[in-house]
Amino acid sequence: MAVVSTPAVSTGAEGLAGVADSYGALPTIGALPRPLPTALEPIEHALAAGRYQSPLRYPGAKSALAPVIARIITSARRSRDVGQVDLLVEPFAGGASTSLRLVGSGVVDRILLADADPLVAAFWQSAAEDTERLVDRAHDEWDRFVRPGGHAGVERWDYWKAWEPRRSTQARNRRLGAAMKCLFLNRTTFSGILHGTAGPLGGRLQQSPYPIGCRWNPDALAERVRLVGHLYDSGRLVDVWRKDWQQTLADVPEYYPQLLPSRVVAYLDPPYVEKSSVLYRASFDPAYSYHGTRRAHSSKDDSLHVMLAHYLTKKAQFRWVLSYDNHPMLTEDRWLYARSRMTPSASDRALLGVSQWTISKRLVTTRYTAAGRVGKRSADELLFTTLPPATVPIDDQLREL
Ligand SMILES: C[S@@+](CC[C@H](N)C(=O)[O-])C[C@H]1O[C@@H](n2cnc3c(N)ncnc32)[C@H](O)[C@@H]1O
Repeated sequence: MAVVSTPAVSTGAEGLAGVADSYGALPTIGALPRPLPTALEPIEHALAAGRYQSPLRYPGAKSALAPVIARIITSARRSRDVGQVDLLVEPFAGGASTSLRLVGSGVVDRILLADADPLVAAFWQSAAEDTERLVDRAHDEWDRFVRPGGHAGVERWDYWKAWEPRRSTQARNRRLGAAMKCLFLNRTTFSGILHGTAGPLGGRLQQSPYPIGCRWNPDALAERVRLVGHLYDSGRLVDVWRKDWQQTLADVPEYYPQLLPSRVVAYLDPPYVEKSSVLYRASFDPAYSYHGTRRAHSSKDDSLHVMLAHYLTKKAQFRWVLSYDNHPMLTEDRWLYARSRMTPSASDRALLGVSQWTISKRLVTTRYTAAGRVGKRSADELLFTTLPPATVPIDDQLREL
């Protein structure tokens, strides 16, 4: 496959590089990208084929959408054009619920996770490569702080919120500390939000019926982390990258030229058009800095969503599935996804082999638990895909737009 050369990315994510260095999250787990394991070992972990695999309860997690995406990819695999998926790439991994489910259930052979947030990348890298040390650290946190709860729990929450690694600590240990910070805050903060102003579960006074440890099941958590380690050891989780989405998409063909482009699929779940800046450190909302604080002078500017659309509709060399909040801008704006086909330039078609795939569009209703509310609510999600259009189901679950 030809190598894509991409312009420097200006999402602001490169400003995270300093934080990433201090957290010990390298662009790849090892010093170099991990070679593609040739032999596929069987997955032997009880959780692999279950409903939930991710150790993180991630804001905006797509666990409800994962079975729908599994359906779309399974259907595409029946076509001659796709056949099988050797690699599923998730450049906005977050809690990685979809990738883990798809590889665990055998819908795809391998997965590659990437996220620009150094804390999130450190978590997945440590879970993959430093599994038992992370499991031990998590058990220790549970025993000493989360299980006792109350004041000890809130004090520990403050400790992790303020935690920064010592520069003198070895990179691998800094990364393990950052992974623990990510896991602790994710399991004990309101809605699992890592950055910004969300407080500890149960409130600072811990007078709620849902105290700080109510989302922390130590044994289940340990097994989910072990599943990640097992997927990495068995070559099913190829690598974890701390990169901007565009770098990830550019690097896959460069590092894995042996993969047939028709057998690579990217699943992209970017921050929502609405509200993403309060949830993620690496947000697409240009009105916010990457530290969760509002900029003094903000302007309405959706250019980062436009950049992603530009890449996906003109440059992408492998097929993709994209999920978004149901925002009218996405389907009405011709700079976004109003068109029904990819429109690569003549030179990208000739030199890079970029295709003019049809973009199929579907609306999916998912049920989810809303922060601070009892019971389930429903929301519509948009799904766009360049998988062979005749294979993309249309029915009550996947409504045509
Ligand atoms: C909607 S969340 C993904 C949730 C995930 N699908 C799940 O099920 O948990 C979006 C993720 O994109 C990451 N992100 C934001 N901007 C990014 C960028 N420019 N490049 C790569 N990742 C980015 C955020 O850190 C966040 O983890």
